Amino acid sequence: MTVSALLVTLAALAFTNAGVIFQNEGTIEGWSATQVEHKGYLRQVDNVYFDKPPALAMGQVFDPNYPGRYHSELRYNAGYGLGDTRYYGFAFQLHPEWNFSPPISYNLAQFISPFPKCDSYMPTTMVWLRGSKLFTRTKFGSVCDQKLDTFSLDVEVTAGEWHTIIIGASWQANTTGFLQLWFDGKPVLDKQDIPTTVAETEQFQFRVGLYANGWYDDKSQRPLDGTYEVFYDKIAIATTKDEADPGKQC
Ligand SMILES: *[C@@H]1O[C@H](CO)[C@@H](O)[C@H](O)[C@H]1NC(C)=O
Repeated sequence: MTVSALLVTLAALAFTNAGVIFQNEGTIEGWSATQVEHKGYLRQVDNVYFDKPPALAMGQVFDPNYPGRYHSELRYNAGYGLGDTRYYGFAFQLHPEWNFSPPISYNLAQFISPFPKCDSYMPTTMVWLRGSKLFTRTKFGSVCDQKLDTFSLDVEVTAGEWHTIIIGASWQANTTGFLQLWFDGKPVLDKQDIPTTVAETEQFQFRVGLYANGWYDDKSQRPLDGTYEVFYDKIAIATTKDEADPGKQC
């Protein structure tokens, strides 16, 4: 191969993002579906963004007289199936008036699938905020015999500035899986040779957005005044980490 042919080939390789399964640059368009409950909202905004407008703003409003759940989420249906290896990236920013106390659980991303038996919608891995800390988990076993492992991540989430998350997962029901997480580019979780999902082969959705799950699941603590809104940008699913990286997505 001549040098110029080689350069053409290299350039072509650099511009193909063959491993990108899904990509969204902060638009409401392009998703499989939305789920916004009660006084929650989902907007496309131009004044807050990761690298260029737009970005997504998803918020929830606490109502002591409302008995239901508080989702403000977008979903992509083909998140994963048993045996897949995938990387999921997104940038997020908590609204500057986010109130970190009391430490209630606010979910930021999750994998979930409907099941007719033993559960209705069953989430496996979730990534959630409690206070300024992040947590994630694996769910394994089976839908009718669910097992959980929760991991506390050594990070400090701040409001009013962008953070990035990349999740790497080999979705296995036996001990050949892995779960990794990078926060602001730093590795903060690397669990190898573990089961990462249930034995069922159903497709799991990948969802991002604010799901104020603690407002429903834990009624011992009520939110204080604050703006419970999360901005999202540069969301991707890919077969390589770099292609999912919010700072490197094409
Ligand atoms: C683990 O499960 C996968 C299917 O997801 C299968 O291909 C593989 O052979 C299994 N490995 C072991 C050691 O059981």
